[in-house]
Amino acid sequence: MQVARLRRLRRSANLRNWISQTQLSPKDIILPYFIVEGKKVKKEIKSMPGVYHLSIDNLVKDISGVKGLNSILLFGIPKIKDEIGSQAYSDDSIVRKAIKAIKREFKELIVITDVCLCGYTIYGHCGIVKPVDGLLFMANGRKKKKNHKLSTINYRPEVDNDATLEVLAKIALSHAQAGADFVALSAMMDGQVRAIREMLDKNGFTDTGILAYSAKYASSFYGPFREALDSRPQFGDRKSYQMDYRNSDEALREIKQDIDEGADIVMVKPALAYLDIIYRAKEKFNVPIAAYNVSGEYSMIKKLADGDRVREKELALEVLTSIKRAGADLVISYFGKEVLRWLV
Ligand code: PBG
Repeated sequence: MQVARLRRLRRSANLRNWISQTQLSPKDIILPYFIVEGKKVKKEIKSMPGVYHLSIDNLVKDISGVKGLNSILLFGIPKIKDEIGSQAYSDDSIVRKAIKAIKREFKELIVITDVCLCGYTIYGHCGIVKPVDGLLFMANGRKKKKNHKLSTINYRPEVDNDATLEVLAKIALSHAQAGADFVALSAMMDGQVRAIREMLDKNGFTDTGILAYSAKYASSFYGPFREALDSRPQFGDRKSYQMDYRNSDEALREIKQDIDEGADIVMVKPALAYLDIIYRAKEKFNVPIAAYNVSGEYSMIKKLADGDRVREKELALEVLTSIKRAGADLVISYFGKEVLRWLV
């Protein structure tokens, strides 16, 4: 038998480009932003070098400096956290103000907003946890005291699925009213896509899209993000609502359920340790698939590159391209800005 000379097609950069199968393009990138109250704030997040807390004025400035940007994902950091996450749906929530400011300046930009409670509740869970009767000592609206450890003594350590749905629907509607193009549902509550689709439709927002974090795993790769959002659970963990990483069939059930409930785009998260899930989802379903290359995956590359910009670029492009190769159509990446600079 003749030897297949596969190296023949690898001889020059031109040949390699010519036959390359996977292209990472600028339009694939969704760039996340962390928005805080105040003016002129630009504060680097310690665990995520190169990523900042920005006030709205600086957010607008930052966006205008990114060429080729197609879509962004907004996370709000409220001044005040409480038991019910009220700052997530208030009229003057940080996210609503940000959407309006962005829409005033950038008409075409696709604005996606995170809909979740972990950053807005004092106990740092993605849904409503009910206080134990008589022990509700933390009044609504009061700031969480530093070093004040909440414990299961004060709360029933259960996230109430259906009570959470109502709040999530209110948040989603408030974002849609402010002008969000898509709401990103990341709380992993059962029935959240249906509850929010119904709420949006009922109020005339039939064109507001839903990006569902369908297969979201309980992952240790979220660590740096939780520092950015100050959203670490104050008791327990997220394993009763986020998925177990030992499972993949369950991910397909989650995804199917979300599509049936009305999701326009489904997501797998994290990305790198879950490429098989992306691949299976792509094979099975014909909806756009997004993948979230999460904070810990970002920090890992930063650490490995250790300040060497060339290595960082090579690592980031390899990882992001592999996520596309697995089947993702869209990738959320903290390297987004750099990637656009490299590609545009
Ligand atoms: C939860 C949420 C998480 C992330 C985004 N939204 C995970 C979590 O804290 O459980 C993680 C994103 C990242 O790590 O980059 N609403």
